[in-house]
Amino acid sequence: MNITVLTFDTIDSTNTEAMKQARLGADEGLCVVAREQTAGRGRHGRTWVSEKNVGLYFSIVLRPKLETRLLPLITLMTGVAVHDTLQEYGLKPDIKWVNDILVNEKKISGILAETAETTQGLAVIVGIGINIRSSNFPVEIADIATSIEQEDVSVPPAVEGVIFDLLAKYLTYFYDILNGENGPNHIREEWRRRSTYFSGKNVRVVFGNETVTGTTDGLEENGALRVRTMDGDIKIIQAGDVENLRQTS
Ligand code: BTN
Repeated sequence: MNITVLTFDTIDSTNTEAMKQARLGADEGLCVVAREQTAGRGRHGRTWVSEKNVGLYFSIVLRPKLETRLLPLITLMTGVAVHDTLQEYGLKPDIKWVNDILVNEKKISGILAETAETTQGLAVIVGIGINIRSSNFPVEIADIATSIEQEDVSVPPAVEGVIFDLLAKYLTYFYDILNGENGPNHIREEWRRRSTYFSGKNVRVVFGNETVTGTTDGLEENGALRVRTMDGDIKIIQAGDVENLRQTS
């Protein structure tokens, strides 16, 4: 994959711009990066707080050849790449299914994958937000969010560029693996090694109006989460918010 970069000082959302570029025919590997987003988007219609110069706001255009049913593995692959990028800073990240990167159980990065039909075929836009500096997180997320700086890592002024380079390197590496022989198995295995949520975690999963409580029990072929409920049933979670239920005794 050839990485090319479009940078903006301020933009509404790097995902929106990358989607526009994909529809205009951008090749796989086009990255959109901004110092600030005025309408940063998270999953499930949430807002991604994107103040100037406190985070990396990044989106990449992919044109995967994967079978459609395996497309969710792109999110897992991205989680692995973000995990390894952050590890380079001495952090010990965890990946909470499906796409939250945590450090000390607080969210440091989120991933938003969106698809677009274009004249060149299906494009997947993968957006990544990484909290770099300790900013004034809004009160509603202050207890659940962290940043590289907040984890006692000193970050020099131009660190965004270095993080971008690392991220591009790891994304290229793991995307090649995903597209290679036995790629989906490799990516699930890489994800398993980096996530405490793969199995044996007591969780509550909320999707739509439904809630499932149980213990994680591995991934399906497409990356869906398996949860074993108290009565031994296996529920397959294709999308939803996972909450860690800490042991009380
Ligand atoms: C989430 O955890 O809910 C996903 C957050 C994704 C945020 C990134 S920041 C860069 C890109 N542009 C956006 O508008 N969203 C993603």
